[in-house]
Amino acid sequence: MKFSHSRRTVIRQLGLGSLAGTFPAILYGQSRGQAAGRNALQIPPLFEGVPSTAGQLYSLTMQQGETEFFNGVRTQTLGINGNYLGPTLRLLNGEQVAMDVNNQMQENTTLHWHGLHVPAVADGGPAQIIAPGTIWQPRFEVMQQAGTFWYHSHAMGQTGSQVYHGLAGMIILDDEESLTLQLPREYGVDDIPLILQDKRFNADGSLAYVGMRRDIMTGFFGDTILVNGTLNPQFSPTTEKVRFRLLNGSNARTYTLAFSDQRSFSLIGSGGSFLPSPLVTNTLILAPAERAEIVVDFSDGRATTLVTTELPADSGFRTQGMMSMMTAMVDQEFDLLEITPQTGLASSPALPRQLTTLTRIAESEARRTRRFTLNMMMGMGMGGPGGGGGGRMNMSAPFSINGRAMDMDVINERVTMGDTEIWEIVNDTMMLHPFHVHHNQFQILDRNGSPPRADEVGFKDTVKVGPGETVRFIMRFENFSDPDNAYMYHCHILEHEDNGMMGQFVVV
Ligand code: C2O
Ligand code: CU
Ligand code: CU
Repeated sequence: MKFSHSRRTVIRQLGLGSLAGTFPAILYGQSRGQAAGRNALQIPPLFEGVPSTAGQLYSLTMQQGETEFFNGVRTQTLGINGNYLGPTLRLLNGEQVAMDVNNQMQENTTLHWHGLHVPAVADGGPAQIIAPGTIWQPRFEVMQQAGTFWYHSHAMGQTGSQVYHGLAGMIILDDEESLTLQLPREYGVDDIPLILQDKRFNADGSLAYVGMRRDIMTGFFGDTILVNGTLNPQFSPTTEKVRFRLLNGSNARTYTLAFSDQRSFSLIGSGGSFLPSPLVTNTLILAPAERAEIVVDFSDGRATTLVTTELPADSGFRTQGMMSMMTAMVDQEFDLLEITPQTGLASSPALPRQLTTLTRIAESEARRTRRFTLNMMMGMGMGGPGGGGGGRMNMSAPFSINGRAMDMDVINERVTMGDTEIWEIVNDTMMLHPFHVHHNQFQILDRNGSPPRADEVGFKDTVKVGPGETVRFIMRFENFSDPDNAYMYHCHILEHEDNGMMGQFVVV
């Protein structure tokens, strides 16, 4: 009986019925504690591909659509195989993958596999343009350990707008090790994706995007949070333990995640890999593009709420100086997900003590260190250049790295295949930038000379670099070389990326 009951719940949550809930058609930002109708958390459909001669085939259609975030109000959105966001792709280490990406929209786009170790030509960066009405067909082998990744538009200068309107989805990657671990892994039942995004709606229900220069300088912040595209979401666990795969799919907002009752949870994954063993904590800071896998115990049967709270002062990530006035948004508190466990939860096994073995890449292995200084110009009477890395400042773009703004015609760095390198990211600005590198997962060596925090010891492809901080990480450039196709490195605040804080490297 219990089983069939929970089954029905799952079917309802997976259902493709109306996205509308009971929320009244009054459009305003929902702040923490505001009473509002709750909607069942949407779970993006799971897409495991279909066997084909080219490998496991994933047909993805990028399309325009309409979504009812608010009951009875249609909002123009973009989606992949749907109206908003895309299906969750499940990949298996070692498998051959064939992606058929069909652009049915009226504008150019690209589709990037964030965090996947793939050939540059299959990476989906700004050069791999998919024109309207055409199909892009990258093929690659999955060559990395289990983790949580995502895919999203990476169109030059348009990434912020296209991701904001919905061109993004989650990727779950399993390997032999992950499939034998005693972890919750039934998708939509006890393995739940949570794609966190903040939006701003106009009075007519349309999505508002960058409207003023501040939206670019601080990155675009919304006043309404969606989880998997659901407004005011509610989730009812049917098992004692639930694994949440958190993805910060926001353009600029950093979340400080916690539960309203301060309950602790176990952090098991940092995106690119598991942690060596579960880390018990009760708060987690997730910057744009970062992922985390957590396991939460609901066996007490009590309701709780996943919230975002003020960014801790001791985190080193708070905006400083005059910029802090512009970014009061980062301290806004929101309810993200109301959680009400069902009665009679199915039991879940204890978490494994060990999740994986992570061999540290020795610093002595590195052939060279490259330094990347992040610069931004405050401009517009906000106090002159905030940069000052000493490099040549590009006056036309507000953001740059080593004094150069992104230029499609310039390859900024050349890396030798087989080398191990240390990259040193220097944040010469007054705000946090999540720095991301394509091609590779890296290990953080230190932050301002101190060893990485316990939540950062796994493999990652995106790292928070706080104002004034210097972060060093190490990585190996293996398997793919291509002098003609570049990988990107950039700030993952999408308005910064779109406005110059990005560069290109080739592996030769
Ligand atoms: Cu998530 Cu260059 O991207
Ligand atoms: Cu990426
Ligand atoms: Cu940035």
